[in-house]
Amino acid sequence: MSSFISQRAKNLPYSGIREIFDLAGKMEDVIHFEIGEPDFDTPLPIVEAAFEAAKKGMTHYTPSAGIKSLREKLAAKLTEELEVQFDPDEIVITAGGMEALLLIMLVTLNKGDEVLLPSPHWPNYPAHVLLAGGKYKKLVLEQKHEFKLVTETLKNSITENTKVLLINYPHNPTGAVLDREDLEVIADVARANDLLVFSDEAYESLVFDGKKFLSIASLERMKERTVILRTFSKSYAMTGWRVGYLAAPKQLADKTAKLHEHTSACTSSVSQMAALAALELPVEIPLKMVKEYERRRDILIAELAQIPGLKVFKPRGTFYAFVDIRQFGIPSFDLSRLLLEKARVAVAPGSAFGAEGEGYIRVCFANSTENIRKGVKRMGEVFQELAAGRQRNDVKKRRN
Ligand SMILES: Cc1ncc(COP(=O)(O)O)c(C=O)c1O
Repeated sequence: MSSFISQRAKNLPYSGIREIFDLAGKMEDVIHFEIGEPDFDTPLPIVEAAFEAAKKGMTHYTPSAGIKSLREKLAAKLTEELEVQFDPDEIVITAGGMEALLLIMLVTLNKGDEVLLPSPHWPNYPAHVLLAGGKYKKLVLEQKHEFKLVTETLKNSITENTKVLLINYPHNPTGAVLDREDLEVIADVARANDLLVFSDEAYESLVFDGKKFLSIASLERMKERTVILRTFSKSYAMTGWRVGYLAAPKQLADKTAKLHEHTSACTSSVSQMAALAALELPVEIPLKMVKEYERRRDILIAELAQIPGLKVFKPRGTFYAFVDIRQFGIPSFDLSRLLLEKARVAVAPGSAFGAEGEGYIRVCFANSTENIRKGVKRMGEVFQELAAGRQRNDVKKRRN
């Protein structure tokens, strides 16, 4: 049967997060910190609006680019937030940010074109680049630089094949956020080297400490070389509805819509109506979720700080904390398995986010404060044993 499978499919990387998730699925009483999705239900007005829309017959194909009123609303939202004019024709509604990413790579990359990929990174990017026939080059992000791009690294990585720079802030898996000065430098490099920028803004609304997200597309002469990728998944607790969108220069948006025609025709009509309702929600509703994530972040950070040997990078956005486990000298996947087996706590191994994430685990705090406290307590016991020299043999035995 294997001979029927394409090389393309064979080359797809396996997810280290999924591996832990599958193992956890076979166990009882596990606290889940590994999967990155809101624990809130979709706000009721969104669900009701979708139900009403379905009842009224909004159950047919829509234009490939998406329902006009939704694109108009999104163009107005981006125009207001970024203070740069966006037209509905520059917006394409997709099945989540994930589909938007794959489509735009298929639209822009020729064989051998290079994408600069800051790493650690969200695990799906390499698969998207490879499926589109491109190549990626990693740019290492380090904690000592607050997981921000280092200008020299960026400049030195550019070759004649470099076409795209992919940035993702607020950053999964580290929770890092860029400031205006950081973005200005990246924009200078992009303009000077004629790079297209993919700005994955999946967590744009999840920024803490009273700060607001700033998109690179809002900087001077950047809109014309930026593709913004966003989603309703995280901001409105809508992961299962599968609605996201991209905003791109019109020619790219046109071709993306064209490609959509050949893949899924359009995003689910009911989900698009749900997205429209999400944009009409009183701002307090999504804001309340952000405030709650921030509160949980503070609890998680304070609790983890009690465990000797762990170093936690304080996330400024997202719902992830990236925890430095290098002190324990155990590969992140082995440690994640150990935490699962001994503490019944599932975390994402840093290596799932590229080799550059090794030495870390990602803890998702989209979970109740009760679970956060309980989970960290359980983890603490394992770390204590590790520090005392126990458990190490278990890890070694399993590896042999
Ligand atoms: C960085 C990043 N980008 C994009 C996505 C895509 O999310 P969705 O397809 O649900 O919109 C995710 C989901 O986890 C993500 O973490």
